[in-house]
Amino acid sequence: MQRRLFLRWGIGIAGVGLLASRLSAQGQMDHQNMSAMPNMGHGSGSMPMMSGGQTALLPVEALPHGKPLTRLPQLQNQSNQPGLFRAQLTAAPVQVELAPGIKTTAWAYNGSLPGPLIEVHEGDTLEIRFINQLSQATTIHWHGLPVPPDQDGNPHDPVAPGQERLYRFTLPKGSAGTYWYHPHPHGHTPEQVFRGLAGALIVRAADDPLAMLPEQHLLISDLRLDSAGQIPANNDMDWMNGREGQFVLINGQRQPVITQSAPMERWRIWNACSARYLRLALPGHTLTLVGTDGGLLERGLGLEEILLAPGERIEVLVTGQESPLMALAYDRSKMGNPPPEKDLVLAQVRMANNLSGSSPALSLDKLRPITDPGPVKTRKRVVFSEIMDMQNGRHDMQFLVNGKAFDMNRVDLTSRVGEVELWEIYNDSHMDHPFHIHGTQFLVQERELKDKVTAEPYRAWRDTVNLRPYETVRIKLVQQQPGLRMYHCHVLEHEGLGMMATLKVV
Ligand code: C2O
Ligand code: CU
Ligand code: CU
Repeated sequence: MQRRLFLRWGIGIAGVGLLASRLSAQGQMDHQNMSAMPNMGHGSGSMPMMSGGQTALLPVEALPHGKPLTRLPQLQNQSNQPGLFRAQLTAAPVQVELAPGIKTTAWAYNGSLPGPLIEVHEGDTLEIRFINQLSQATTIHWHGLPVPPDQDGNPHDPVAPGQERLYRFTLPKGSAGTYWYHPHPHGHTPEQVFRGLAGALIVRAADDPLAMLPEQHLLISDLRLDSAGQIPANNDMDWMNGREGQFVLINGQRQPVITQSAPMERWRIWNACSARYLRLALPGHTLTLVGTDGGLLERGLGLEEILLAPGERIEVLVTGQESPLMALAYDRSKMGNPPPEKDLVLAQVRMANNLSGSSPALSLDKLRPITDPGPVKTRKRVVFSEIMDMQNGRHDMQFLVNGKAFDMNRVDLTSRVGEVELWEIYNDSHMDHPFHIHGTQFLVQERELKDKVTAEPYRAWRDTVNLRPYETVRIKLVQQQPGLRMYHCHVLEHEGLGMMATLKVV
């Protein structure tokens, strides 16, 4: 199989690594490694597996694999008015057949796991009528989008069971990017997400320089099923380390086959897992990173692997390759002596047989400018910490922001509309935590670990950034709308246990 790519690369380093990787199309897999991978690292065979010493689990093989990747279902626009996207989302329990012959009760948006993809354009107004048919209060949070605080699904604005509300907001110019939506009610966020409530949202720009590339969308989620095929509650280990199931799914499927239908594709990837870190790689190939949470980078960047913390998204260019898509082992310093991390096969990537033609000539050297918001006016410091007690053989855990557990009735920090701020976030704990803030995108300035300060090598709009144990990350941000914004750890169990705080923008 010989394919040639005719790319007009700029002077950036992106092209070099990628072209080099083109020389090896196949056969680069380390077989020893390969044999260790297929079972997602939780044992294999038909023996029920134990997790945290509590629940017997369905074997990994109980879910079919190797089927063609399904496209995310799309939320249909019911409006024919230009610039208006009007639709309805209902959160409700639903019966799904994930393992053949077993009905699993999940909670889903519009009955689909994951929820339907919302695809809109910069400048559009969204009117989403939301109906809550769950037995718990919920909200929809528009993760990463600059929506007004009272439309952003804060825990302060619950939609009671059986009730409905309208979410209405307009997406400004410059907001093109890869986002998602999920519940954010007080107390129930981890459960509602691990039972299935999450969906993807893409904002497109009229002047997207990569618009000619075909796209694939990979929403990666995590699922645990007990031996009866049901989604069990969190156990102590889940609360401590964040929940990871025995299944890692792409668009709801285990180990699907992703077929590339063009010499170069643009993939958007979501880490919608509650707590699982995804160190993504196509072994033997270079991934060209072109976008992060808040849209395109200034130029493409060739990378051998990309770490996607819970909540993060990326856009990558993938050129014709046959390889597994891997989540390589990543040690995030979990507590309680968990089994060692293993490499996981997330999917198999194949080339379409009839693939022909060459990639469009495109320059990855000038995707779009990212303008620094200007000189810093105010500084803030946020410290993530944990308190861990063993009491009567049970872990008593607290996850704190600036020494306090979340209190919905407390304002923790105050910012002014339009003011450029430098936030210093320090992880004063021995486990990784991904920091996330609502309502805006930020630019990471530098990272500091063990007295070594590393300037961020490139500008990227993000709303979520990982912090290694005892690492400090300094970010620049501006909030543009008055109201309450949340900032928290995006390991959802940590958020649920109190590692969240409220910012008041005035
Ligand atoms: Cu993904 Cu506070 O959110
Ligand atoms: Cu968010
Ligand atoms: Cu955390």
